[in-house]
Amino acid sequence: RRLDRANNIADLRRLARRALPRPIFDYIDGGADDEWTLARNSTAFTDYELIPDVLTDVSAIRTATSLFGQPVSAPVMLAPTGLTRMFHPEAELAVARAAAKHGLLYSLSTLGTTRLEDLAAAVGGPKVFQIYIFKDRGLTAEFVARCKAAGFHGLALTVDTPVAGNRERDRVNGLSLPPKLTWKSILSFAAHPSWSLPALRGSRFDFANVSHKVDALAAGPMSLFDYIGGQFDRSLTWRDVEWLAAEWGGPLAVKGLMTAEDAKRAIGCGATGVMVSNHGGRQLDGAPAPIDQIAAVRGALGDGPDVICDGGIRRGSDVIKALALGATACSIGRPYLYGLAAGGEAGVDRALTLLIEELERTLALAGVIDVAKLERRHVRARRNMAY
Ligand code: FNR
Repeated sequence: RRLDRANNIADLRRLARRALPRPIFDYIDGGADDEWTLARNSTAFTDYELIPDVLTDVSAIRTATSLFGQPVSAPVMLAPTGLTRMFHPEAELAVARAAAKHGLLYSLSTLGTTRLEDLAAAVGGPKVFQIYIFKDRGLTAEFVARCKAAGFHGLALTVDTPVAGNRERDRVNGLSLPPKLTWKSILSFAAHPSWSLPALRGSRFDFANVSHKVDALAAGPMSLFDYIGGQFDRSLTWRDVEWLAAEWGGPLAVKGLMTAEDAKRAIGCGATGVMVSNHGGRQLDGAPAPIDQIAAVRGALGDGPDVICDGGIRRGSDVIKALALGATACSIGRPYLYGLAAGGEAGVDRALTLLIEELERTLALAGVIDVAKLERRHVRARRNMAY
């Protein structure tokens, strides 16, 4: 089958590009401004070498660890992504099912297209909800209560989106609100009827977790975007993190910070972990690659808190490098979205299988039998980098 012939994440990306109308593929694939940070997130991994131990008996490899207080089968989690139904009709359920099958942690976005209650009822396995602090604090408090009731294990608070990033591919394609599609975009939609026909029925655009707010206002789908756009609060500060940590009282990671100082502040405010992330290069262009920040963040936090390296991971060996530098785990966004677009749940399954196989093979080749035994000496900066 097509998916079986995908040998790596880059192959799945090519399949996704074929399956989707170009503007939708570009929405997944693109980043902010010049996409410097987007590119840097991945290429930064090539600045590190893996230093193997040989003759260490690697007949039993162990990848299990714990994240957000939950046991997981490998140090890889699925990052929250909004609007997932645009990429495949099975949307978040397909992604969460594949994650659960592999024993991996799944995170659902506030801007996802499946209600958090429906997701929790349909799919077992460790689950985190990605939350924003909205202007309407009542809406955020409501999410906290809903997540508790539905049995989510943790929260990830995204803090790198005080305003929307400048995604120029979306502008060029006319993927804006309201849409200003170019002829080229329209032709691309027409050439992908299996994507476009359901979209015409409107079933692809639904922020399922917040739509009740807009229903209450008796407004249409466009107002939903307006409502959400208007809900981002530029005045957020660390105080709000303290408030959320107290309101939730469980495992909480601050997602989207970059420095050791901010990581310490997050833990000081009651977070139990951090996701070192620049939103996959979709927000602040010019921000450093997460992998280059991991050692400093771990150094500042000591052994306890979860440190998650989020962005640019395309190979199992990337995960090993991040762990050797001090990460608890890595988080992936586009790799599973390419799989989802290419083949629904089977495509996500393929992406996860590939990454886990690569991770196990890299461990064996590096002579390390357990992810917990990866040390700083297993990785070396190629250039004279201060880490
Ligand atoms: C995202 N990301 C994201 N993050 C978040 O906190 N809330 C969200 O709703 C979304 N939505 C979203 C949509 C799409 C299409 C992408 C590609 C990404 C960011 C995501 O959680 C993660 O930080 C990055 O995807 C990680 O980088 P890689 O793995 O894509 O390189």
